[in-house]
Amino acid sequence: MSDDNSTPRTFSAPKGTYDLLPPDSATFLAVREAVAGPLRAAGYGYVETPGFEQVELFSRGVGESTDIVTKEMYTLTTKGGDQLALRPEGTASVLRAALQANLHRQGNLPVKLWYSGSYYRYERPQAGRYRHFSQVGAEALGVEDPALDAELIILAADAYRSLGLREVKLVLNSLGDAKCRPGYRAALQEFLRGLDLDEQTRERIEINPLRVLDDKRESVRGQLAGAPMIPDHLCDDCRAYHASVRALLTEAGVPFVDDPRLVRGLDYYTRTTFEFVHDGLGAQSGVGGGGRYDGLSEMIGGPALPSVGWALGVDRIVLALRAEGVTTEVPAATDVYAVPLGEAARSALFPLVTELRRAGVAADFAYGGKGVKSAMKSANRSGARIALVAGDRDLADGVLQLKDLSSGEQWPVQLDQVPTEVRKLLG
Ligand code: HAM
Repeated sequence: MSDDNSTPRTFSAPKGTYDLLPPDSATFLAVREAVAGPLRAAGYGYVETPGFEQVELFSRGVGESTDIVTKEMYTLTTKGGDQLALRPEGTASVLRAALQANLHRQGNLPVKLWYSGSYYRYERPQAGRYRHFSQVGAEALGVEDPALDAELIILAADAYRSLGLREVKLVLNSLGDAKCRPGYRAALQEFLRGLDLDEQTRERIEINPLRVLDDKRESVRGQLAGAPMIPDHLCDDCRAYHASVRALLTEAGVPFVDDPRLVRGLDYYTRTTFEFVHDGLGAQSGVGGGGRYDGLSEMIGGPALPSVGWALGVDRIVLALRAEGVTTEVPAATDVYAVPLGEAARSALFPLVTELRRAGVAADFAYGGKGVKSAMKSANRSGARIALVAGDRDLADGVLQLKDLSSGEQWPVQLDQVPTEVRKLLG
């Protein structure tokens, strides 16, 4: 890299990232709101945590052997010697924050929290897979109740539907708990050790055998046909819990597909695990995912705090909307556009725009001394319903021209009558 700051050069967004710009950015905001609104209404409070945490929070929480921790974390050492990582996911951070603030001790469980923000994974970029991406998530901490799992799944399913998505599929599994998982793990390991697998996969059998079930390669998948499946190894409690979640989803009219191989890429899951997938997205089909993580709190130094949550990928939801040809209703940001023709008009219209804004009217102004043609073009582009046009002659008469941009009609209005007239027109 050159230190020569005098040579002009250009910059682009780093590999695997992209900029969110108008008008597309409005769809992102609409997606975030479609997910967040129902969460707020269901009692979830907003939480915001730092963009980075101590590396160990994620290596302990998400799991030492996961791809996220071994390959995908952006880590850094600060000048003070702290080992930090840009957050690759939100659950460990949110639980850390709740424990730190003792939210779980305030006698009001579950602690229900939602969040929205940027996450970072050093992945191989491709369509739908970025190094910087956006999630909206929800976590319900401190209660073991199948209705809570169902609540979260229903809220997510309804959010996709409210956006107009028709092809999101819910895939469901249970991963058992501390009681039944070890037995299953051992049975699976025994089966896997008998297969013809490469060195790396053999290592995985010893560290994280469940992940082998998730292997996408045909050569591996073909051999997994007779593998022991977790649903056959669940203990009675886990079985009953899962049956309850399934019944509640069915009752709520939320369809799902059972997938005994669904294991997810994070190690903290117990019992309920799920993913929302969309077939129109190619390889990166997951538009959201989550599950129960009853042991995570203890893994990061907290008390037993059974919890459940999910995170939905905003970038991929936007891609899914495009794939289904759904356009979200994004109302025009501007209602009124002021077009001053000359200095005197600028002095009269600028305060009027301020007054309209203070009265709650979305108003914009043609800056930069534009000519009438270019200013009217901007007015049309803004999506405004009304243009307020004034020249010297109008001002001499104490009026401006109010133009209804949808009908093209135009008429003079007394300056002091403009706010009333505008409000009348906008209804
Ligand atoms: P996750 O499945 O790793 O779960 O991520 C959730 C969603 O984030 C994915 O379904 C996907 O839509 C989106 N996503 C993940 N990585 C990328 C990427 N590289 N580019 C674009 N989108 C991506 C979690 O993060 C868990 N914390 C979810 C959770 C919350 N479990 C319990 N509570």
